[in-house]
Amino acid sequence: MLTLGLESSCDETAVALVADGTHILANVISSQIEIHRRFGGVVPEVAARKHLEAFLPVLEEALATAGLSSPATIDQIAFSAGPGLLGPLLVGLGVAKALAWGLRKPLIPVHHLEAHLAGAFLGAQRLPEWPAVGLIVSGGHCTLVHATGPRSYRILGETADDAPGELFDKLARFLELGYPGGPVIQEMGRNGDAERYRLPRPMLGKGFGFSFSGLKTAVIRLAEAEGRQLRLADLCASLQAAVSETIMNKVAAALDETNAPRLIMAGGVAANTVLRDAIGSLARARQVELLLPPLSLCTDNAAMVAAQGFHSAALWPADTSTVNAVARWPMGAPFMVMIG
Ligand code: KG4
Ligand code: ZN
Repeated sequence: MLTLGLESSCDETAVALVADGTHILANVISSQIEIHRRFGGVVPEVAARKHLEAFLPVLEEALATAGLSSPATIDQIAFSAGPGLLGPLLVGLGVAKALAWGLRKPLIPVHHLEAHLAGAFLGAQRLPEWPAVGLIVSGGHCTLVHATGPRSYRILGETADDAPGELFDKLARFLELGYPGGPVIQEMGRNGDAERYRLPRPMLGKGFGFSFSGLKTAVIRLAEAEGRQLRLADLCASLQAAVSETIMNKVAAALDETNAPRLIMAGGVAANTVLRDAIGSLARARQVELLLPPLSLCTDNAAMVAAQGFHSAALWPADTSTVNAVARWPMGAPFMVMIG
């Protein structure tokens, strides 16, 4: 079963081909990072226009990489239908519908965050097993779930304001370190002293919810107070320690509450080495299986979309031709949310 995946929920135009939901035949990504860098963040309308330009060349490259002589050998088409930036999502929806209609193949809408979790199993080249505690940490999300099936989730906690990637991106812009912020902060903090600056660990002991805007303000205040005395490497290390400790504390509580035998961390911020080390230690201490996608499958890609399309295909109605793209879409919410 050959699934074509399409991804355009933010600033990556991506097309992938995945066999049987487990084997990547092609995973092509065209990133717009350079275009958005000078704005210090993604500009939705610019992103939509760039997706329109990039989709067909990226599709052709994916077909060539997989060695497909004809797209007719594709069995089904999965695309990121939300959540995300509406303009960029609509471009992907148009491409997906055109392909499904032209090739007469089933069209499967995929939830972008559900796809991030599926990407962890794809990285391990295996089919998903449930239940699991899932943590999605990215530029737009910080979501902790108890997953019991390919589209069954109990949302334990979400961020009330900034997501961790957004926190890193905004602080990197404030500190004039560049964009995207996560990788720069990781690099700067590599040899820093994480104990030098005692930053807040927000919302500890207050359920599963997250909030990172207070931490952002604390860093800005600290940087202003320290002025030229500020030790950037130490600040970057201290910031990552605060984020990591806060998140791991809630993940540990989620393992306690659910007794899940496995743990998944996914999303762009799951590429962060401080978080990867911390969740590795936590999984070992709790003796749960840890699924951590390789770095190439942490940030947005279409292979994870194809994988989630494969796992969830049977849960969609036969005719999805009226499906829409949606900027907001709770994990696990059904098809009805998406027609109209
Ligand atoms: O999942 P993703 O590609 O896009 C969405 O937000 O859906 O995540 C992008 C985010 C950006 O905010 C970026 O700064 C962050 O992931 N990021 C990282 C690292 N690599 C990417 N954050 C921390 N450490 C990293 N190594
Ligand atoms: Zn993402």
